[in-house]
Amino acid sequence: MTHTIQPDNPEVTPAPDAADLPVFTGSAPKPATTGVPAALKRRIPKYSDLAPLMQFKKPEFSKEARLKRASTIWDLRDMAKRRTPQAPFDYTDGAAEGEITLRRAREAFLDIEFRPGILRNVSSVDLSTDILGKPSRLPLGIAPTGFTRMMQSEGEYAGSQAAEAAGIPYTLSTMGTASIEDVAAAAPNGRNWFQLYLWTDRDRSLELIERAAKAGNDTLMVTVDTAVAGARLRDVRNGMTIPPALTVKTVLDASYRPAWWFNFLTHEPLTFASLSRYTGTVADLINSMFDPTLTFEDLDWLRETWKGKLVVKGIQTVEDARKVVAHGADGVVLSNHGGRQLDRAPIPFHLLPGVKEAFTKDNSDAAIMLDTGIMSGADIIAALALGADFTLIGRAYLYGLMAGGRAGVDRTLQILEKDMARTMALLGVNKISELTPNHVRLLN
Ligand SMILES: Cc1cc2nc3c(=O)[nH]c(=O)nc-3n(C[C@H](O)[C@H](O)[C@H](O)COP(=O)(O)O)c2cc1C
Repeated sequence: MTHTIQPDNPEVTPAPDAADLPVFTGSAPKPATTGVPAALKRRIPKYSDLAPLMQFKKPEFSKEARLKRASTIWDLRDMAKRRTPQAPFDYTDGAAEGEITLRRAREAFLDIEFRPGILRNVSSVDLSTDILGKPSRLPLGIAPTGFTRMMQSEGEYAGSQAAEAAGIPYTLSTMGTASIEDVAAAAPNGRNWFQLYLWTDRDRSLELIERAAKAGNDTLMVTVDTAVAGARLRDVRNGMTIPPALTVKTVLDASYRPAWWFNFLTHEPLTFASLSRYTGTVADLINSMFDPTLTFEDLDWLRETWKGKLVVKGIQTVEDARKVVAHGADGVVLSNHGGRQLDRAPIPFHLLPGVKEAFTKDNSDAAIMLDTGIMSGADIIAALALGADFTLIGRAYLYGLMAGGRAGVDRTLQILEKDMARTMALLGVNKISELTPNHVRLLN
């Protein structure tokens, strides 16, 4: 049985018969070319064809050659992971609780779209800027990090000397594993800042402040997001102690990372910028040092005591940014401590436009700095476009340090500089001051 398909709608015109179609009157198509063009015919290669292609290089195994193979900060992180025992690597790489804050902070930089300007002459991109009244060759500085010589034995010396060579500020942490005086001597022409954790014991704080001033530090950065230690669960799981204890696990780990252990055991034992030697867990040390009773009155005391530039680090709301400036701060660092304190904390990149707007409204020229989550030069450019005056990097430089000591920190700075220069040129911008919020569209 055959089915005749009737149109559902009788008004639809049925397809015309071939005889009804219009007659094609153009010229007839040319016949297809057959045969293979001479250039596509196979032949035996001649030596003169091969010679220019043969560029075998002697394999290079130097530290510099290895570091050069890193094109991104993530590549340096991979190298760092291979070369550093698990406990110090995780201490650096990890964050608090579910590590949600750190992940969100990094994602925030990715959830944007750049809006480039075309046909601008970008033959001379200049990355220099001013921060707190002095020039910096790049719009970033090195953030304060504790226990740095535990990550790689060159620690603070590598960080401060790389910063000096790059013409950018370096911040020594109260928990740093080199003294204020030793860092000043290692990088005498560098712009060294000191980061302070305030104690209830004013005399101890005062002694540190005086040492920092005497050693030529022009900026004091007081960190205020650490009333108590964050819950850094990787450290708990790894049984991380200062200095790393020799257990069966760490000795086994040492067999895979002999260079780290060799360096660690053959250099000066860890001493601190401000503490005498300490043995115990990081959380215990932090909790014994930090003062949960601090208030804005302590900030007022600090403002009266410190004559140089005063910056408050760990600002997480617009109201607090305004308040610390009203109490005399010369600048703020929008930061959640790299996600290492309160998890699910505000993301500095999201906080930035609100702080910029508030400072503009208040006619305040306090510097807005930002850290947390920066893993590329494009992240820095996005922050500057949205109103930051300056940025700080923590892990980005520590990955370089663990990947190759001083040369590794140099590599971090080279990668970020190249990223920034390229991003600026592709945005059609020559100077940091030309960046505006119009260059960035937030996608979420
Ligand atoms: C290993 C490590 C140690 C840190 N130690 C300190 C410290 O002693 N004082 C401080 O104010 N911030 C400290 N921070 C926070 C950094 O100064 C900075 O806020 C954070 O690293 C920025 O995030 P990022 O690592 O994603 O760049 C530390 C961060 C890391 C990763």
